[in-house]
Amino acid sequence: ISVGTQHRTGYHFQPRKHWINDPNGPMYFNGFYHLFYQYNPNGSVWGNIVWAHSVSKDLINWEAVEHALYPSKSFDKYGCWSGSATIVPGIGPVIQYTGIADEKQTQVQCYAIPEDLKDPHLRKWVKPDDSNPFVVADNPVNGSAFRDPTTAWWSKDGHWRIVVGSRRKDRGVAYMYRSKDFKKWVRSKHPLHSRKDTGMWECPDFYPVSLKSNLGLDASADGNQTKHVLKNSLDVTRYEYYTLGTYRRDKDRYVPDKTSEDGWGGLRYDYGNFYASKSFFDPSKNRRVIWGWANESDTKEDDVRKGWAGIQAIPRTVWLDPNQRQLLLWPVEELNNLRGKEVNMNNQKLEKGEKVEVKGITAAQADLEVEFSIPSLEKAETYDDKWVDAQEACANKGSNVEGGVGPFGILTLASEKLEEFTPVFFRIFKDKKKHVILMCSDARRSSLKGDLYKPTFGGFVDLDLTKDKKISLRSLIDHSVVESFGAGGKTIILSRVYPQLAVLKQAHLFVFNNGTEPITMEKLKGWDMKSAQIN
Ligand code: FRU
Repeated sequence: ISVGTQHRTGYHFQPRKHWINDPNGPMYFNGFYHLFYQYNPNGSVWGNIVWAHSVSKDLINWEAVEHALYPSKSFDKYGCWSGSATIVPGIGPVIQYTGIADEKQTQVQCYAIPEDLKDPHLRKWVKPDDSNPFVVADNPVNGSAFRDPTTAWWSKDGHWRIVVGSRRKDRGVAYMYRSKDFKKWVRSKHPLHSRKDTGMWECPDFYPVSLKSNLGLDASADGNQTKHVLKNSLDVTRYEYYTLGTYRRDKDRYVPDKTSEDGWGGLRYDYGNFYASKSFFDPSKNRRVIWGWANESDTKEDDVRKGWAGIQAIPRTVWLDPNQRQLLLWPVEELNNLRGKEVNMNNQKLEKGEKVEVKGITAAQADLEVEFSIPSLEKAETYDDKWVDAQEACANKGSNVEGGVGPFGILTLASEKLEEFTPVFFRIFKDKKKHVILMCSDARRSSLKGDLYKPTFGGFVDLDLTKDKKISLRSLIDHSVVESFGAGGKTIILSRVYPQLAVLKQAHLFVFNNGTEPITMEKLKGWDMKSAQIN
């Protein structure tokens, strides 16, 4: 096996070689899903950025086609950076993206349309000269921090609108532009939204979600049965947060809900390695789907040796949690078609310190669903108010640190003698009136290799345990990825790990409990995952 091969993914999207970052312009059009992404055609570090392009019938198996956008004009000579697609009625798909116009990395907004709408793969894209770039930065917009246009939405006033990410000093800003004909765009008097001290807003995403059902909505959907989501990727910390709120069309402003923190402590789609995400509405299944980029956690030198870097997380359907305080995300249903051999383990009690192996599936490329039930919450440790940061709490209270209720969960990508393992687990605390649930995905022991980034990721789970004292966990394990969904998609954590021993057939999988309170594993289903046909 050549360097890095054992860490390539079996069913997470990646090209055959070289560097990838943000997903761009995801869309469904005439029977095909399209995924474009930031790509370096010459190597496995960031640079020379083009829009690579793959097409699919099911969001899981992909065929690479030629690059859709590459530097070819004065306005994008130094790179074709991130952007979005809008299906414009009567016109068809339009890609809006950021062109890098000079060596100082001046950012302008450009667009492209398919050369031939009858080509089912939409292989060739043209950049009309008469109306490109369609926006350049004007005072007070800072042209070196001005990028990543969103999908456009249409309002009854006859205008299309988009948002472009930016900053003014340390304030994150979502500038808004409007157009009648999708060619000529003007900046609105005030931004859609901004927030002090959050720095550059990359890859903004703005869309409605339904208050009444878990079906997705088109970006232009209107009405009082909706709420809006604004997501931004923060360049300073390289993570994203979103708020739920109201889009006031009369005032052309977005106002986050009081229950939705607008800033560093905001809600996240994923509390792990997940960035520059972008959603799209899939009219063929009436759902909204989110793509996100998961960068490598190894060194640049490793990436050069491997010849590849970066993957996309599994596309996730997104909808509003019935509690209306957060979103829920879940792997698209098509992923289940890759499930092969299945194992089941039911009604098994896990005493303190117990560890049970899940045998009979390929633990390095698997899908696992577990439901835990907790007989009693009495022994839960007292919650320490100082732990506002879940990640810090997870680092203090690792999977081997005995607790009252938990830690319990799974040990993924484990070597036989546990020299290496990546635990994904819950720990439950008692607070004044309620319980606090912590979910962790801890890469500290994931590899014997030293010079890797091995973060202890963590997030809280907003679940009321008093009703039935049950919590579920789903983990997608794929060689160098552990992508875990707590409590039906309330809290999600993606970790990138590079085991040296726990690779391919040498990888093991366990369920464990290191709390004093016994935990029952009510149901466990595990599947071998077949490899997807990717590029
Ligand atoms: C986010 C980002 C975008 C930019 C692109 C360049 O990861 O920095 O803001 O458009 O990547 O590749």
